[in-house]
Formats: sequence, structure tokens, C-alpha cells
Amino acid sequence: MSDNFDVIVIGGGPGGYVCAIRAAQLGLKAACVESRGTLGGTCLNVGCIPSKSLLNLSENYHKAKKNFFDQGIEVSNVKLNVEKMMKNKDKSVQILTKGVEFLFKKNKVTYLKGKGVLFSPTSVVVYENGQKKSYNTKNIVIATGSAPTSLPGVEINEKNIISSTKALSLNSVPKSLVVIGGGYIGLEMGSVWKRLGTEVTVIENLPFITPGMDREISNEFQKILIKQGIKFHLNSKVLSIVETGSQVEIEYLKNEKNIKEKITADKVLIAVGRKPYTEGLNLGKLGIKKDEKGRIKVNKKFQTEINSIYAIGDVIDGPMLAHKAEEEGIAVAELLAGQSGHVNYDVIPGVIYTSPEVAYVGKSEEQLKKEGIAFKVGKFPFLANSRAKVNNETEGFVKILADSKSDRVLGVHIIGPHCGDMIAEMALAMEFGASAEDIARTCHAHPTHTEAIKEAALAVDKRPIHY
Ligand code: NAI
Repeated sequence: MSDNFDVIVIGGGPGGYVCAIRAAQLGLKAACVESRGTLGGTCLNVGCIPSKSLLNLSENYHKAKKNFFDQGIEVSNVKLNVEKMMKNKDKSVQILTKGVEFLFKKNKVTYLKGKGVLFSPTSVVVYENGQKKSYNTKNIVIATGSAPTSLPGVEINEKNIISSTKALSLNSVPKSLVVIGGGYIGLEMGSVWKRLGTEVTVIENLPFITPGMDREISNEFQKILIKQGIKFHLNSKVLSIVETGSQVEIEYLKNEKNIKEKITADKVLIAVGRKPYTEGLNLGKLGIKKDEKGRIKVNKKFQTEINSIYAIGDVIDGPMLAHKAEEEGIAVAELLAGQSGHVNYDVIPGVIYTSPEVAYVGKSEEQLKKEGIAFKVGKFPFLANSRAKVNNETEGFVKILADSKSDRVLGVHIIGPHCGDMIAEMALAMEFGASAEDIARTCHAHPTHTEAIKEAALAVDKRPIHY
């Protein structure tokens, strides 16, 4: 193996591995360093992928137990086998991580196993099993991702005080689970364990869940989760978490009333955000700067203070989403190959894979108001969508925000069945600068959930047909 590369990517998650593959496609000699032992990063190993497996399986279990009977399907003796469920999830993860390894071989990307450390602007040292090896490269891309954060003074011991990693691999159903943080991780993992039989309580510091999301959607989302049996303490800041034998005691402050309360549970999941992971990379020595949140500072071309060193994904500014990191990985590879790669940050969709799903792209109503942009709103409920109706999945609605003057779509927010897939249509429409009228005049197949999008676009001009 030659030790000279055009680009070495540090980190084999969705940002890093996609960057390495795209660079190789463009004729660059590319390597990717990964210390985990498997490719795919947090997303494939302990994040997006295993959580989606458990969300799907737990929903099937829940439906078989709670919904089938009313729909004329009589099954008896529906039993949960957590061990088998976890094995099924692990198998999917294994197949997918091996798949990335196969893609590396196919594209002639060199996979360097071990911990990568920046040695100079043009060299990387890889440590594995006490051995170290140095590689020269014209460029380096840092794609080392993020790690869970905790609360001050609280140590995540992965026994009763757990992170999302442990919440994805519990070997039995806890009787009670307190989730700290009403964000993406808390609500997805809370949903999984609630469906499997756990009593779930979410404690959130803010007066609403999913901060940053269109408020009308997040309020509706919370109402639906309450109906599913999840309890919420909003506007409540967790102060301390103490283990008391086999349980955990959580003390929190009711912000408005300024009173302290306590709750005990079998497990507590800390889901209060993630922080950029840059430990041991040697950034300080090379003069690479970070901002106040620990994110690596980059220019518009993803370059750090040092021209040959780039950074992408969760270690830089922006939403910590796998698909955002992938886009940045592709952009950097194309820039390195002399092309004009770029990322359109106005059109990065977000999805929460609960039931129903929540999906959005573009600006929220609150953001538009803050920016002083005049807008029109078109809404359509799934209750009036025939496909949702026959499937007994009528919760939620589509909300389209369009510019008052130009009618250009500025944001789309959906809560409802399959909207995680449906949002792709709206991302495409926004990439092409579509107006609400363009969407309203596009023929949508009947009967599909996507007709709710067409109807919401019609509703922007106050002319929906079915509502
Ligand atoms: P998050 O930033 O989505 O939510 C954390 C929540 O914790 C916030 O609502 C915050 O107000 C609350 N909080 C903070 N301190 C608190 C305290 N002391 N007491 C009570 N509440 C407190 O972070 P989360 O859920 O940990 O997710 C981390 C990252 O992972 C996110 O950036 C997300 O984008 C990504 N992710 C994406 C998924 C997806 O795309 N479906 C799934 C899971 C994670």
C-alpha cells in the first residue's frame, strides 16, 4: 500500500465515507481512517439506523397488540421477545456497515483502521493496537462527528443513567423511563420504549418540545404523544440525578413556579444534545480554531485555518444530521477535484421518525415572522385525505408557507403518516424555486398521502377541493 494520498478523511460516518467515495469517483487517491472497527459512524452503528429498526419493530408490536383487533385481525398471544428484536436490529446494522466496506473496495478507497491524528497540514498518523503509522496526503478532511453531552455533574454510566447508545440496546423493558430532553433522540427513544410497555416521562427545560421546529407542528406533536401515553413536564430544568439502589431519582425545577420536584424511575435517558467530537486530533497544535460551542471554524469552502485541512458534518456549524454531513462530504470532494461543490443550507429536510412522523424543510412560521418576511399559509389535514382515512392514520396535517408576493414556497411542515418520505417532494420543489401554484398544478396520484401536499398548496390560494 502506498502511503501517499490526495485526500485522507478522518472519520467513517456518513460525512466521511461519502466524501471518500466521491473523491475516489473523481479520480483522487482517497483514504478514510476509522477507529470504531466498523464503518458508518454514529448514524449506522448507534444512531439513525438502529433506532429506525427499533421504531419499526416496536410499532409493529404495538399495532398487533392494540390496533389489529378493531380492524378485524384477531391474533392471540402476541408476545415480545426483546432479545430477538435486538438481534434483528444488530443484523441490519451489520449488513449496512459491511455494505460501506464493500463500497470502499468497489471505489478503491483505502480503509485505514485505527485512530487518526493530525500530524502536519499534509500528514496523518494512524494509531492501532499500540502501533503507529504515518501517511502523507495533499488534503485532510476532518469528519469525526459528535458525542452525547450530559448535564453538569451527571455521569452517564450506561447502567441506569443512559445515553441513546444504551437506550438502543437494553435487554429488557424497564418499568419506567425518564427522558431528559424533548428533542429528536428523547422523543424517538421514548416512543420505542413506550410502545414496548415502559411508562415514559419526558422532562424538557423549555415550555415546548422540539425547539426550532414550527410551533404549531410541535404543539400538535406533543398532543399526539400525550394521547399515546407519554407524560411531559415542560418548562422544567433537571437539577440533579442520583442513583438510589436499583432506581434513579431526578430532581427538577418547575421554572415558572420556581419549585423543586422529584421523580424516580428505573432508567433515565439523557438526551440533551450532542457536542462536536474533536478529542485527540491535535487541532490546537496545528492552530485550528474552534468556536464557543467547540465546533471547528471553517470558511465557505469548508477550509479550516489551514488551507489543506477541511472539516464537515457534526464537527462544524449547522444541524447535526447525517444527510447534511453527506452533502458537505460531496461538496468538499468536488471542491478538491476542482469542481464547484456547494450545499444549499436553506433546503435541508429534518425528520422525526415517531408515529406519526414529523418532517419539515425550509423556514418555520416563527422564523419568517422574525425575519419580517410576509407569507401566506396553506394547511390540509390528513383527516380529509382518503388514503390516510382508509388506513386509519388520520392524525396530523400539511402546512405550506409561501411568500405573500411571489408565491414561492419558503417552508413546508408536516406531521402525519409517511411524511418522512413525502418531504423529499417539497425539498425538490424548493430546490427548483417552486411556487405553491406549481405544486397545486402538479398531478398527484390518487389515492396517496401526497395528495395532502397538493391540497395544502391549493389552500395557500384558499381553494382546496376536499376540505
Ligand atoms: P436536541 O437538541 O434535539 O434536544 C435536546 C433537548 O434537551 C432540547 O429540547 C433542550 O431544551 C433540552 N434540555 C437541555 N438541557 C436540559 C435540562 N437541563 N433539563 C431538561 N431539558 C433540557 O438533542 P438530542 O435529542 O439529544 O439530539 C442530538 C442531535 O442528534 C440533534 O442535533 C439531532 O439533530 C440529532 N438526531 C437526529 C435524529 C433524526 O434526524 N431523526 C434522531 C436523533 C438525533
